[in-house]
Order: sequence, then structure tokens, then C-alpha cells
Amino acid sequence: MKQAQTFFSDGEHKWLSIVRDPDKPNYLIDTNEYMVSYGGEGLLCDPGGQEVFPPVFSALTAEFDPGRIAGIFASHQDPDIVSSLGLWLEFNPHLRCYISWLWTSFIPHFGGTAETFVAIPDGGMEIGLNGLTLEVIPAHYLHSSGNHQLYDRKAKVLFSGDVGAGLLPADESDLFVKDFDRHIGHIEAFHRRWMGSEKAKRDWCERVAKLDIDMLCPQHGAIYAGSDVMRFINWFDELEIGILRS
Ligand SMILES: [Fe+2]
Ligand SMILES: [Fe+2]
Repeated sequence: MKQAQTFFSDGEHKWLSIVRDPDKPNYLIDTNEYMVSYGGEGLLCDPGGQEVFPPVFSALTAEFDPGRIAGIFASHQDPDIVSSLGLWLEFNPHLRCYISWLWTSFIPHFGGTAETFVAIPDGGMEIGLNGLTLEVIPAHYLHSSGNHQLYDRKAKVLFSGDVGAGLLPADESDLFVKDFDRHIGHIEAFHRRWMGSEKAKRDWCERVAKLDIDMLCPQHGAIYAGSDVMRFINWFDELEIGILRS
């Protein structure tokens, strides 16, 4: 059963993670869902696939009133990111979904109407959450051609979507990366195969290295905290990607 954990808390400002599902069938990739809340209002980040909607919904509602979810931020279009959209909209038809303009005519195949979507321009934008400003950071081609991340400058949290994603063995259930060198074994093949643009990767590394980040939170695997954040950015900067190896 998935469980929600608060990993950042400062008064009315919180970040929740819903990670690792031991009951999930093996044919599904494991995903992390996150929610940032401020003054009791929440923004869901990559709410997941329709298959995991029931455990995500029940884990979240154990900690937070789902009626106070104001919207959904989708880093990109993949089914494991946002195919649950139609089910969230059944719960609350007024939810807004923030996603790259590139995907706004594709994602309605998962649900929603023209009113549901807020098209994020290529350069990113700001999202207001009950007085908190969240910054949408461009991360195109990492891996999707219309791809964004969400930065909370106040909490120093970067929700990074598939960047930093790790495919962990069943016996590794830690929320945070414990041993970075060992963790590389869980992230290297994923980044080599899924991240297609060397130039986009370099641009991203340069851009996020300037941000003050305490926690880099990917949509699969463990969270990078403290010095592991720059360790990851530097490792990714050096990694050769975009080449299919036989
Ligand atoms: Fe993806
Ligand atoms: Fe993913």
C-alpha cells in the first residue's frame, strides 16, 4: 500500500511524497507522486497512471483533504505521468492541468476539456498557489520534446520529472539516496536510453546548477538531498547520452 510522507514542512508550506508501492504488479513501472501545499491548498505533481489512481488517492486523502487540490502539474505526456487525469477530473471536474503547450491537444485523450488545460510556454511560467509562487523550469527533450519541471524557491525543492529517475530493486525502499556511487547503478541505463539530446542536457545542467536546491525529486526512484544534488547534476553533465549501444 502506498503511503504519503511529508518530507518538507515549514508552517503551512509542505511537500508530500507518495513513493514505492509494494502491492503494484511487476509489469508496471514504479512511480513517485508529489504534492506541494501552501495554506491548505495543494498542487499535485505528476499524479501517475490510471492503474495507480486508487492507492495514490487513498494515500493522499489520509494526509490531505482532496477537495483542496487546486490543480495538477504534468512534467510531460507519458501514461505513467498523467493517464489518471480523467479519474482526478471525475472527483473534481474543475481541476486545472498545467502542461507544455505541445501536449494540450494530446492529453485530452486521457480526459479533460479545453477549460482543463493551462498551456505552459516553452520558456516556462510561474504558478501561483494560494500566495506561494512556483517556477516552471524548461527541461525539453529530457526526455519528452515538451518537458518541464517545478521549482519551489522557498522550500528549495526541484520536482524533476524523469530527470534523476532511478529504477530501484524491490529491497531498496529508502526515500532518499543513501549512497550516490551505488545509486548510479540504478540510474545510468535509464538516462543513457531515455535522454536523447546532448545539447538539451548541457543547457539544463547549466540552468539548474544556478538554482539553490536542497532536494531534487524525480518521478521514479529516490530523492537527491544536500550535496547529492550537485553530484547528480555533475554526473549527468558528463554522461554520454543519445546513442543506442548494441
Ligand atoms: Fe517519461
Ligand atoms: Fe516516468
